[in-house]
This record gives sequence, C-alpha cells and structure tokens, in this order.
Amino acid sequence: MRLQGKTALITGAARGIGLEFARAYIAEGATVTLADINADAVAKAAASLGPQAHAVQMDVTRQDSIDAGFAAAVAKMGRLDILINNAALFSAAPIVEITRADYDKLFAVNVAGTLFCLQAAARQMIAQGQGGKIINMASQAGRRGEGLVGVYCATKAAVISLTQSAGLDLIKHGINVNAIAPGVVDGEHWDGVDAFFAKYENKPFGQKKREVGAAVPFGRMGTAADLTGMAIFLATEDARYIVAQTYGVDGGNWMA
Ligand SMILES: NC(=O)c1ccc[n+]([C@@H]2O[C@H](COP(=O)([O-])OP(=O)(O)OC[C@H]3O[C@@H](n4cnc5c(N)ncnc54)[C@H](O)[C@@H]3O)[C@@H](O)[C@H]2O)c1
Repeated sequence: MRLQGKTALITGAARGIGLEFARAYIAEGATVTLADINADAVAKAAASLGPQAHAVQMDVTRQDSIDAGFAAAVAKMGRLDILINNAALFSAAPIVEITRADYDKLFAVNVAGTLFCLQAAARQMIAQGQGGKIINMASQAGRRGEGLVGVYCATKAAVISLTQSAGLDLIKHGINVNAIAPGVVDGEHWDGVDAFFAKYENKPFGQKKREVGAAVPFGRMGTAADLTGMAIFLATEDARYIVAQTYGVDGGNWMA
C-alpha cells in the first residue's frame, strides 16, 4: 500500500482517467475526494468506490466553487496531501474557424482551473506544514501544435509551463509539482475527439480512433489504467527529488 493514510483530491473524476486514478489511489490505501462539475455523475462514481471515496460538486472555472470544494474535501478527509488537476475540455477546429467563446471556455477550465486549484491545494499544504504532491494532467498535445487542435494544444502547453513555475516556487515548502503527458487514451473523451475528426477530416465515426491507435509504437491506444502507475509514483516519497517535470506516458507516441 504505497499511499496508506494519504488524502487526495482529484478534479474531473466523475469518469475516465480521473475516476481510474481515484480507484487506483484507494487501492493503495488513500482516501480520495472526487470533484467534478457533474454532481450526479461524481456522486455515483464516488459511491461505486466505497467508504474511502467522497464526492464534491466543483466547477474549476469558478473561484467560489473551488474554495467551497477544497474546504469540503478538507472537512471530509481532515487534511490534503495530494491534488491531481485532471479536469479538462477538448475542442477542435481549423484556425480560421476558432471562436473566442471556445477559446475562453477551454482556457477557463484547462489553464485557469489548473492554476487556481493548484493554488488552493498549495495554500492548504503550506498551512499543514508537511509538504504535498501536485500532479497536473498535461498532454502530448502540449508538446507541439496540431493543425486542427490549436486551442487545446495551447492550453496543455500552458499546463506544462505552469507545472515548471509552480514546481520551482513550491518545492521550498516541500510540495512537488509535476505533470503527466498522456498520448491517446481510449474512453468517452475520445469518442468526442473522434466526432470532431469525423467532421473536419470527413471520416466515418471510429476511423480516426483506429488510425491513431494503430500509429502508437506500443501497438494500441492507451487505457486509463496505463497511467495509474505514474500517478501513484509521483504521489509517493520515492518522487521527492522530482520537481517541475512533465512525464510522457504514451506508448512511445510522442517520440514517434
Ligand atoms: N483521453 C485522452 O486521450 C487524453 C490524452 C491526453 C491528455 N488527457 C488529459 O487527461 C485528463 C482526463 O482526460 P479524460 O479522457 O478522462 O477526460 P473526460 O472528458 O473523460 O473527463 C473529464 C472530466 O472533467 C469534468 N469537467 C469538465 N469541466 C469541468 C469543470 N469546469 N469543473 C470540474 N470538472 C469538469 C467532466 O465532467 C469529466 O468528468 C484531461 O486533463 C485530458 O486533457 C487525455
């Protein structure tokens, strides 16, 4: 049990990668608050994980919701040792069709949401005086642009940059800030991605997913369970000397 007695808050945990992280942390002995904008889904997700899981409704784009969500999590769990900044939105459009509304929406969730949840966690961890671990979900999309994915790629580049700055600033408090950059991970999220490519590349639904999976050097798309090893490791004391890094967990996709 590598996280015995630890407490974690995971944003965007009602489904997909965040939910799998919650399941994996609980299996390692942690208590987890699952936070999501979708109140019903996050309540059901937490209930499915048993007594070590709590649910809070939280919209990471609203400061009052972040403040209330972190306060509720600390009230339920007693303290906060680990944050995973996982909530995010995806969109795709050719550069000439990007709208300000879409840009504002993605930056509000993926960048401002990440920064201000990170800040709330850091304030709590500094007050506790025993350090902590903050893990941001970046993406291979943050390491390079993509013709149809300009806004999402820019938000994930910003997450990598914030990880570097926060990592450098917070390590003096014993808080390690690092990030995970997945490649292509199957799940409901990718059904949405597939729909964008069906529209813009004129492909039948499901074809883009098959193509990206076949192109991964490992031989298939990732699963949420492929990412849990890194999420657990970065939350343990074995990762104490790791600061401001973004790790690719992508089956070799980015390198290829
Ligand atoms: N799936 C992939 O291929 C992939 C690849 C690289 C990176 N990632 C990153 O991994 C993370 C998880 O991805 P996923 O595939 O599980 O996504 P997902 O879309 O399945 O889940 C995202 C969750 O975030 C929640 N959410 C959205 N807006 C929110 C808000 N304002 N406040 C709180 N919660 C909100 C949603 O309700 C949802 O439960 C994201 O940061 C994503 O960018 C995913």
